[in-house]
Amino acid sequence: MAVPPLRIVMVSAEMESLARTGGLGDVVEAVSAHVARSGAHVLVVTPLYGVTKIPAGCTRWEGTVGVRTGWGEDDVRQVGVVELPRAEGGRLRVCLLDDPRLFGRAGIYGDAHGTFGDNDQRFAVLSRGALEIAARAWGTEPDVIHAHDWHAALAIVYARLTMGAAWARVKSVMTIHNLGFQGSLGLDALDRLAIPRDAFLSGAMNHFGGVNLMKGAIAYADRVTAVSPTYAREIQTVEAGFGLDGFLREQAHKLVGILNGIDAERFDPALDPTLAERYDAVTFEHGRATCKRALLAELGLGEDLAAPLFTTVTRLTSQKGVDLFLGVAPMLVDRGARVAIVGQGEPELEASLRAVAARYPGRVAARITFDGALARRCYSSSDFFVVPSRYEPCGLTQMYAMRYGAVPIVTAVGGLKDTVVPARAAQAEGTGIVAARANPVELAFAVEDALTLYQDPQAMHELRARGMARDSSWTTSSRAYLTLYRELVEPVSAKEPSTLTPRVST
Ligand code: GLC
Repeated sequence: MAVPPLRIVMVSAEMESLARTGGLGDVVEAVSAHVARSGAHVLVVTPLYGVTKIPAGCTRWEGTVGVRTGWGEDDVRQVGVVELPRAEGGRLRVCLLDDPRLFGRAGIYGDAHGTFGDNDQRFAVLSRGALEIAARAWGTEPDVIHAHDWHAALAIVYARLTMGAAWARVKSVMTIHNLGFQGSLGLDALDRLAIPRDAFLSGAMNHFGGVNLMKGAIAYADRVTAVSPTYAREIQTVEAGFGLDGFLREQAHKLVGILNGIDAERFDPALDPTLAERYDAVTFEHGRATCKRALLAELGLGEDLAAPLFTTVTRLTSQKGVDLFLGVAPMLVDRGARVAIVGQGEPELEASLRAVAARYPGRVAARITFDGALARRCYSSSDFFVVPSRYEPCGLTQMYAMRYGAVPIVTAVGGLKDTVVPARAAQAEGTGIVAARANPVELAFAVEDALTLYQDPQAMHELRARGMARDSSWTTSSRAYLTLYRELVEPVSAKEPSTLTPRVST
């Protein structure tokens, strides 16, 4: 008898081609497409923000969908649904939840005036709305709810606790892209967001007396994934657990690390129209030199192709360690290097970036912007791409950099450790330079290694070639997600322990 295809609803605040601030959107878009390509039916639900790039050919569903937001009879919002053209043979559907009062604003989590104060309510509506939209799309419950980060956490909690027996049986997967953000709320959130008090009293959502959405989803999910194997281990330690390490150790039986990939077709230097010259594994020396010349000119960094170029493209947050990179910039300039940093974020970091660039005109360039095409020009032009993160669940830019032949300099954390193999010139192996820790001294050592390596064109050539040859595609990882879904829906052993009662502590 043919097995019916799996139905998976993906709940996410971001989707790369529609609205994104970081890697979360890239990953949700890629995983959804690959899983659908393998035969499953995937429905992605994400909000229709004021900043969403709505593609051509969308259709609006007839009528509205009722989304419960509180306990009262009238606590139901009517939301619209805008559906994108179907893809992957009709198996990939993407629905935009349209609630203009909550989402029709000039930002995803905040705007120029700061973070929105009602994000808990906004994402509760997304979470509950995604389930209602899935039910309308398929006429029944899905097989799996896959929630991404705290914004989608309530989808798992609502399904388990508030929507009846059929929904309570639906399997669920919670993916942690960044444990630094958990959705930590006051006790008043329980009634406001229609969360049963039991979820708090049992300890599942109680974190030091407050309501913690991420913890709730971890408690009620059947499986929890982190975006790299190393991060899955790190979040069980005090240093990287953001207060949930003890709880995650208790839940370790359902925690697994699945390494992110990148879209190797959309990020391909042989096809990339934004580059000054396209190149492949054979022509990269020539192509990259042309790209470097163009970028140096674009950024006002002169014409000296022989000077090593160090770049990064990043959100300017303390997680990303840009301050550490700025710390080694004077030493790099002293040694004749050029530095370019592209990103936006925390105002203090933006200010320090501008200050360093002003101090070294023609040597250090800063672009306070979020610009995908400029990012690609950095990957294709820089000799070294610096990712000195203090913690990094996975990180994608180091993979883009390798794909384009830039040598990554990373710290030995999370997915950076899992994707960059330390170079050992003598043994002709490795794909990048790995600093043991995210501190000024270790980064200075790493940069010193890079400058030494740069003196050896043959070693550099081989290092770039190995980076470009690394398979960072989604093939392996998307298979891992599919296997995970299948195992949940068709358990190998019928005697699987029930996950309905969470084992928790506060
Ligand atoms: C978050 C993490 C980053 C990860 C991305 C996608 O942005 O900080 O490390 O690569 O999510 O999973």
